[in-house]
Amino acid sequence: MRIVIVFGTRPEAIKMIPVVDAFRDEGRHEIKVCVTGQHRQMLDQVTELFGTKVDHDLSIMKPNQDLTDITSAVLIGMRSFLKDWRPDWLLCQGDTTTAMASALAAFYEKVSVGHVEAGLRTGNIYSPWPEEMNRKIISAIATDSYAPTAQSRQNLLNEGISDEKIVVTGNTVIDSLLKVAGRIDNDESLRKSLDEKFPFLDPSKKLVLVTGHRRENFGPGFERVCNALKSIGERGDTQVVYPVHLNPNVQEPVNRILGGQKDIALTDPQDYLPFVYLMKRSTIIISDSGGVQEEAPSLGKPVLVTRDTTERPEGVTAGTVLLVGTDGGRLKAEAEKLLDDNVAYEKMSAAHNPYGDGRAAYRITKRFE
Ligand code: UD1
Ligand code: UDP
Repeated sequence: MRIVIVFGTRPEAIKMIPVVDAFRDEGRHEIKVCVTGQHRQMLDQVTELFGTKVDHDLSIMKPNQDLTDITSAVLIGMRSFLKDWRPDWLLCQGDTTTAMASALAAFYEKVSVGHVEAGLRTGNIYSPWPEEMNRKIISAIATDSYAPTAQSRQNLLNEGISDEKIVVTGNTVIDSLLKVAGRIDNDESLRKSLDEKFPFLDPSKKLVLVTGHRRENFGPGFERVCNALKSIGERGDTQVVYPVHLNPNVQEPVNRILGGQKDIALTDPQDYLPFVYLMKRSTIIISDSGGVQEEAPSLGKPVLVTRDTTERPEGVTAGTVLLVGTDGGRLKAEAEKLLDDNVAYEKMSAAHNPYGDGRAAYRITKRFE
């Protein structure tokens, strides 16, 4: 069979490369990797880290692109690719506009769609926006849905997707995380070079690692989060490290409110390997990221999620993830509780594995035997 594997942003790359590797290792099918280039630098760092050969690049990214820009550019670019190569299957991942528009392009060309990380839902199409709707559109199109957990399978069944179209695989993010965390754990010289990459880290202070990029938080939500981070940094016993997403709507408030503040280090987005190192060194994580919510339970790191909803309830049930929204007072209070109260910290920092065992990609390839 001819299978095209499509991705366009950082998290899709981290989660799809294990699938690419599993198909290429197995060698049964003709595989092509098509990237949309919805992200550029943040995508390229992941393909470089994993040494992934990209066969086709739509190179669509424009500064401050909106949803129509991405959707239309992916539809047009994918149409040419699909007409030229005529794959049997297109595999897309998650909830980005790259994933949704490439699934739609495949539907228009009557190419079957397999959806990696299917079935996550909040039940609110504006939170996360536009990702919840992207997921629903892909589920309506997909021939095959690779659900990471039993809960996500159930969400699909509830929407009338038939059972034989669904397979529970675990989340491929754990495949990548275990690989990279294993490299850090087993390679002393790599660890030393990572220590040297962050000379400003003070081992006597608690590392608070932060990321943020959700469109529904742009504006006042981001400002409230940044003001809370400023006071967390002022405590004296913490270091806030914030690799800032390249989206201009994130860069502006973060640099304005947190730039030059004591004990707050704003950095470029980190490559995946140093980012995993920072997660492992952190005391707590504050983030609105989907991927980080999935990785943190495996690493036993408490995450305060700056969102009102999550499509990943498994981390909340496991006790590692707490939704705090973008109310600055609540965020500060929950962070201080974890930083000051050992019992509360111990409760949230036990390691759990709700998202899989690192063999999700292998289970996906099994569907194509
Ligand atoms: C996108 C996804 C979101 C995903 C997130 C992961 C959509 C609609 N959004 O949001 O679901 O959680 O990626 O990070 O699919 N930029 C660069 N270089 C890069 C990446 C981004 O300069 O490598 C800047 C550009 O100005 C770009 C802007 O960020 O226009 C926004 O990128 P975009 O992909 O539209 O949105 P994200 O917020 O990254
Ligand atoms: N990540 C990274 N560098 C960073 C921040 C995050 O490599 O500076 C990784 C993180 O470990 C996770 C993924 O990127 O695997 C999450 O991406 P993001 O938060 O951009 O998107 P989301 O998961 O919210 O869609």
